[in-house]
Amino acid sequence: MLASRRILLIIGGGIAAYKALDLIRRLRERGASVTPVLTRAGAEFVTPLSVSALAGQKVFADLFDLTDEAEMGHIELSRSADLIVVAPATADLMAKMAHGHADDLASTLLLATDTPVLLAPAMNVRMWQHAATQRNLATLRADGIGFVGPNEGDMACGEHGPGRMAEVPEILAAVEAALSDGPLRGRRVLVTSGPTHEPIDPVRYIANRSSGAQGTAIARALAALGAEVVFVTGPATVPPPGGVTVVRVETAREMLAAVERALPADAAIFAAAVADWRVAQASGRKIKKSGGALPVLEFAENPDILETVSRMDKGRPPLVVGFAAETHDVVEHATAKRARKGCDWILANDVSAGTGIMGGAENAVTLITEEGAESWPRMGKDQVAARLAERIARALA
Ligand code: C5P
Repeated sequence: MLASRRILLIIGGGIAAYKALDLIRRLRERGASVTPVLTRAGAEFVTPLSVSALAGQKVFADLFDLTDEAEMGHIELSRSADLIVVAPATADLMAKMAHGHADDLASTLLLATDTPVLLAPAMNVRMWQHAATQRNLATLRADGIGFVGPNEGDMACGEHGPGRMAEVPEILAAVEAALSDGPLRGRRVLVTSGPTHEPIDPVRYIANRSSGAQGTAIARALAALGAEVVFVTGPATVPPPGGVTVVRVETAREMLAAVERALPADAAIFAAAVADWRVAQASGRKIKKSGGALPVLEFAENPDILETVSRMDKGRPPLVVGFAAETHDVVEHATAKRARKGCDWILANDVSAGTGIMGGAENAVTLITEEGAESWPRMGKDQVAARLAERIARALA
C-alpha cells in the first residue's frame, strides 16, 4: 500500500503516455499523492487538463515559470517526493539523464534530485536496441536508477520486440517495491525460469519438462522483499508474476542473450530447465513423412548459461545460484555440479518418479553452499521461494 507516499510523476513524450493517466488513478487509489510533470513532448500525447484533473493537482511543465519558482523552486520540487517515476521514459530522457543534461523542467528535476528514481522506458524497438540507448541504460543502472520494463510485444508503430512500456499493474508493483523497506530494496536480481524449446522444424521441438512454478515463485518472493527482478522465461505453463520485468524467450541461445542483456545484477538465480542440446540444423520447412523413412536429427550442444555467467571475468553477479534436478545421490551430484559450474550455491532437488515434485506444488530441496549441504524439509514451492529469497537478502546485506 502506498498511503501518504508522495510520487513525482514525469510524463515523457510517447504514445504510452496514455497509460500514465491510468497510472495516476491507480496510485491515488492506493493512497499516494501524485505531483505531475509533463514534458513538452508529453503534452503532445495527453493534455495538461486530463493530467491535473486525475492528479488533483496542478501540472508542472515549464522550468522558467516564475510563479512556480516563487511557489516551489525546482530544487524543492525534485526533493519533495518519496519517489520519482518517469513513465513513459523516452530514449531522449534517458540520454539526457545519462549525460546530466538539464535543459527543461523534467531533466533539471532528475539532475537535482536525491530521491530514488524509477523509469518505465517506452520507445521503438530499434531505438531501445540502439547501442547508444543500451549504453545509457548501463550508465543509469550503474547510477542506481531503477527500471520496470520495457516489455516485448506489438508496438504502436507496427513493429514487434522490446520497447513497450510496462503495464500499469507492473509499474505499480515496481513502485511498491521501490518504496518498500524490504531487505532487497535497491537490489537487482535476475531469475531464469521455465523450459527452453529447441526447434526441429516450424511445428516440432525438443524440450525439458518444466512448469516454471518454482522459478516464478522465486521471482515473486524476491520482488516481495523489494528487489528489482528481471524474469527471463522460456515457454512455461505457469504465468509470470506481477511486478517484475518479464523477458520471454524460446531457445537456450535466446535465453543466454537475454541474460547477458539483463546484467549487471546483484544476484542471478538460474531456475530454468534449459535444453542441453538443440537440433544442429533446424529445418525451415515442416519435415514430411516419407514412406517410412525416418528423419535423422543431428544435435549440437547448447551454451551452459549458468556456467557462462558463473565464470565471467567481468560483471559476474556477486551471487550466482544454480539448480540441480537429480534422481539419485542428490547431494553428491549437486556438490560436484557446484564445483563444475563455478556457481556459489546450488539448490538441489530429487525429481525421481513418485516424489510428485515435477509440476507439483511442493518441493524438497537441499541447499549446497561453500559451507556444505543443508536439507530443508518438504514444503510448498512458495515457501521454498520465500526461504531462498531471505537467504539471498542475508547474503547481499
Ligand atoms: O547441468 P544441469 O542442466 O543439470 O544444471 C542445472 C542448472 O544449470 C540449472 O540451474 C539450470 O538453469 C542451469 N543450466 C543452464 N544452461 C544450460 C543447462 C543448465 O543455465 N544449458
